[in-house]
Amino acid sequence: MTTMTTTTMTPEAPALALWGRAFFQRCWRIGILLLLLAASLGMSQLAVAQADTDREMVTAAPGISADQWRQVRSGETGPNYRDSRFDSTYSLINSSGETWRQIRNRWVSPFGLIAIGGMIVLIALFYFMVGRKHLDEPRTGRKLLRWSLLMRSLHWTVATLFITLALTGLNLLFGKFVFRTLFGDAVWAWMISASKVLHNYLGPIFGVLLVVLLISLLKDNIPKKHDWVWFKKAGGLTGKHHPDAGFANGGEKAWYWLLATAGLVVIASGFVLDFPNYGQGRDTMQWANIIHAVGALGLTAVALGHIYIGTIGTEGSLEGMTTGYVDETWAKEHHNLWYEEVKDTAMSEEEIAAHKTGSSSSDISVTKPG
Ligand code: HEM
Repeated sequence: MTTMTTTTMTPEAPALALWGRAFFQRCWRIGILLLLLAASLGMSQLAVAQADTDREMVTAAPGISADQWRQVRSGETGPNYRDSRFDSTYSLINSSGETWRQIRNRWVSPFGLIAIGGMIVLIALFYFMVGRKHLDEPRTGRKLLRWSLLMRSLHWTVATLFITLALTGLNLLFGKFVFRTLFGDAVWAWMISASKVLHNYLGPIFGVLLVVLLISLLKDNIPKKHDWVWFKKAGGLTGKHHPDAGFANGGEKAWYWLLATAGLVVIASGFVLDFPNYGQGRDTMQWANIIHAVGALGLTAVALGHIYIGTIGTEGSLEGMTTGYVDETWAKEHHNLWYEEVKDTAMSEEEIAAHKTGSSSSDISVTKPG
């Protein structure tokens, strides 16, 4: 049984309550924004620390001055240091390795922080200022099959692997500044070796599955004239009407081709790093590392945009990738050309349920209707 308490209300009370609710909703958003800004400031401090090579040198080899390092690097010997292997192909200081280290720490790491941190701030600002894209018209309740079970499984496996690779990769690049300080050497040693093993073994599986996903989606992602219009109208942000879109809209095609280009470069360079037993030299490995890191950090930043649009950014998108079905209204508003092709296959919830129990096989085929 529900009990109700009555309070004496003044006429202004409902207005005040409404104002209070709106105020708290706004505060909540501002809070998230401030948190993100604070996080990105903290991250830029890490970048500064990592880019400061003098500080690193002092930690790595205390007591050796920058001048001494320069002497050793140029091949000079001194009373307290000498390269006993100068006759061999080794040298005490690997110059190209040092160049790689500086590119990685001075350019690649800050780039990653700016790209990923910047994207988080941009998304938060966009959400704060523009908000969620709701459907313009009410839902009809009739559904269209958009993603088969096989495609959904493929998408979520690739997405889970990507996120695991992104987190372990970020840990390899920046983890020591956060977790080593927080948890100490023992926990950090365990974390970094687990990250390395996961990254090395999951990378090739992700590579193969991403190629399968890209091949399955190729037909729907061939660029068309109307995709340029889609971009010109910023995907419907400008103008009254939604721009034309087939099964994939301009933005999705851009994401697809980024994965099909930069994604494949990241995978190929990952294979070079994962299998050093094919005779590639130190320089090749160093270049592969830089290319791999820049590509992967850039992709991670863009993936955040994809994840935002696919979840809180657009009403009705995520249900397509979870249940397989989208509402007719969503299809009409976001993918009008595709809707025209498949509208005759729309079904009610009851018909879908009956269809599933009757012939579950149609749901697991790769091909979409239309
Ligand atoms: C939590 C993470 C993710 C979420 C919530 C998500 C969500 C979605 C949704 C809702 C769609 C369907 C959009 C539509 O029906 O039009 C989609 C499509 C897609 N997603 Fe994701 N996704 C995630 C991660 C990823 C990752 C990491 C990748 C690749 C590395 C990826 C690759 C794709 C591709 C290629 C498509 C098809 C777009 C096209 O047709 O061109 N997704 N995603």
